[in-house]
Amino acid sequence: MSFWTRHQVFEKNSIILIVGILVVIAIGGLVEITPLFYLKSTIEVVDGVRPYTPLELTGRNIYVREGCYLCHSQMIRPLRDEVERYGHFSLAAESMYDHPFQWGSKRTGPDLARVGGKYSDDWHVRHLTDPRSIVPQSVMPAYSFLAKTEIDPAMVADNMRTLRDVGVPYTDEQIANAVADLKTQDDPDSAGADAFAKRYPKAAVRNFDGNGGAPTEMDALIAYLQMLGTLVDFKLYNEKANLR
Ligand code: HEC
Repeated sequence: MSFWTRHQVFEKNSIILIVGILVVIAIGGLVEITPLFYLKSTIEVVDGVRPYTPLELTGRNIYVREGCYLCHSQMIRPLRDEVERYGHFSLAAESMYDHPFQWGSKRTGPDLARVGGKYSDDWHVRHLTDPRSIVPQSVMPAYSFLAKTEIDPAMVADNMRTLRDVGVPYTDEQIANAVADLKTQDDPDSAGADAFAKRYPKAAVRNFDGNGGAPTEMDALIAYLQMLGTLVDFKLYNEKANLR
């Protein structure tokens, strides 16, 4: 019997064929899965990615609470039309501190993964307060109440501690200063601005909703929107990776 005719054993007996298939799939599975158990992380480390500041984190929670993900995705696919419209495709590292992630699959509105810096803070205040004042055909709901709702900072340190339990590298110092940092980021004249900048490199410090006083939910949400997609310097990244 030649090598090729021996294959008849499998073709004529379905049980042997099934066992054979299972053995081959098991080998393939092991080859793919085993290396993952020996890697410390499957996410490529990218310069510039840092955990959210307390104000951004609060804004992110508002984003989740209000269900913005039902109409907006936060993942730019590596397809030409997406990259030309929204910018560099999303990297895994950019959402490595997201619990839960906001990739989404529904785009009633545009993708928001790189919306940071695209518009002014004032634009966001107007748009969130009354989307149709800017885009008359918009179906986006108005969120004007955010500007009237002050943030209750009581939860933010606990939130950071919980995130640390699932792997976000918040330091003891960052957690101890959570409430102060939340207020500092919204107040450019604050005495704590230098210490804040050390704890959260390149985080924007300004009055996001254009109104002084205690930080509102509008401040937090805009702080979050304005940092989306801005952490990685793609000029450096593209040179290194030789992309585009
Ligand atoms: C019912 C669906 C819907 C929901 C919910 C929704 N949006 Fe939108 N959003 C849209 C649509 C449609 C547009 C495009 C028209 C416009 O600019 O208003 C848009 C546009 C935007 C833009 C401008 C994006 C760009 O690149 O021009 C931002 C920012 C935005 N939404 C933020 C939010 C935030 C934050 C929330 C949650 C508080 C939210 N949206 C909830 C539908 C929605």
